[in-house]
Amino acid sequence: MRVLITGGAGFIGSHLVDRFLKEGFQVRVLDSLDRKVHPSGQATHLPREVDFIRGDVTDRDTLLAALKDVDVVSHQAAYQDYMPDFSRFLHVNAVSTALLYELIVQEKLQVKKVIVASSQAVYGEGQYSCSVHGFFQPHPRSQDQLFRADWDVKCPECNQPSNAHLLTEENTNPYNQYAVSKLAEEKIALGIGWLHGIPTVALRYSITQGPRQSLFNQYSGVCRIFVGRALQREPLIVYEDGLQTRDFIHIDDVVAANLRVLESDDANFQAFNVGSGKSTTVLEYADLVRKKLSSDVEISLGGEYRRGDNRNSVSKVDKLKRLGWRPKYDLSTILDDFLTWVESIGGIPAQIHDAHGAMRRAGVVLQASNGR
Ligand SMILES: NC(=O)c1ccc[n+]([C@@H]2O[C@H](COP(=O)([O-])OP(=O)(O)OC[C@H]3O[C@@H](n4cnc5c(N)ncnc54)[C@H](O)[C@@H]3O)[C@@H](O)[C@H]2O)c1
Repeated sequence: MRVLITGGAGFIGSHLVDRFLKEGFQVRVLDSLDRKVHPSGQATHLPREVDFIRGDVTDRDTLLAALKDVDVVSHQAAYQDYMPDFSRFLHVNAVSTALLYELIVQEKLQVKKVIVASSQAVYGEGQYSCSVHGFFQPHPRSQDQLFRADWDVKCPECNQPSNAHLLTEENTNPYNQYAVSKLAEEKIALGIGWLHGIPTVALRYSITQGPRQSLFNQYSGVCRIFVGRALQREPLIVYEDGLQTRDFIHIDDVVAANLRVLESDDANFQAFNVGSGKSTTVLEYADLVRKKLSSDVEISLGGEYRRGDNRNSVSKVDKLKRLGWRPKYDLSTILDDFLTWVESIGGIPAQIHDAHGAMRRAGVVLQASNGR
């Protein structure tokens, strides 16, 4: 069996490469070595036996060459950033997926299964209920609300505080360019896959952590920024009131989820959450970073917030558990493994220490009226 892993030089892709090799697959990687992810322009984690093609997933001839004699496609390549080049997100993440199916169908390729990397981002501001008005999927909180340092998601009918639910697969509600592109990607894959009988699964990863993770994409933000600042003995800047919740998953659990849906026909033509199912507040996370590093750096709650941040994003993972997968690693182990890796690479690169300053200058981080 031969697997094509797009984005196989990246964080999740490179761990999939290792696992597929271990399982006895022949592995081909198609990766553009995007300079934002690979500043050196080198693929640093690819074993020799990998058939590596440097190229863009949106390029027809390159993708067709990469698909030659492939049984399984693992589509991990993606554009992930904060920048306002909205069309590029759709182009790289969604159009490449359409092109993949176009080539499989037009060229009658014998691909047996496609797994696409989606994201928890497809849920947007999430899923809530009001004790009076029931279930709702909110718009992102308005700038006016955030400026007043009024952080909680309110019922749109009565403006009263509401309860956050764990995110379940059936209710998506993306807003930003990345989230929209990821939902488009999985709709294309699951829809065209179904119509043409190409078994397909979409996996919506929560914040994935572990060795080799991108120090640049927005998902790894909280982890690399806190660790980077604590190592520099700088205060950990926590946005809002620090009570926003997140969901962290170990890279090995994500890899195991990919293998589980690959083996299971029952997974075909469906989307699955891949997360911990456990809620961690940003304050708890900051505190754990300090404990792990035996650091007494200050946790700074200065009334700042990030434009477009979600208040609560924790996935329910029962659907994937029903296929026999479950997350094995807790947050403490996740952080231990991340810190061991950071140490092995000599710390967090200096050029990203000032992520907070860069986000302020770009107008992504804003100051609420109660701020200092
Ligand atoms: N890391 C997370 O926490 C997380 C969470 C949710 C979803 N995801 C999704 O998982 C997938 C893998 O993410 P990751 O964290 O490994 O990212 P990453 O940035 O480490 O890896 C992505 C790889 O794709 C390559 N790439 C980018 N654009 C390309 C293009 N046009 N053509 C070919 N290659 C290209 C990059 O060079 C990089 O090697 C992505 O689809 C991402 O959207 C990741």
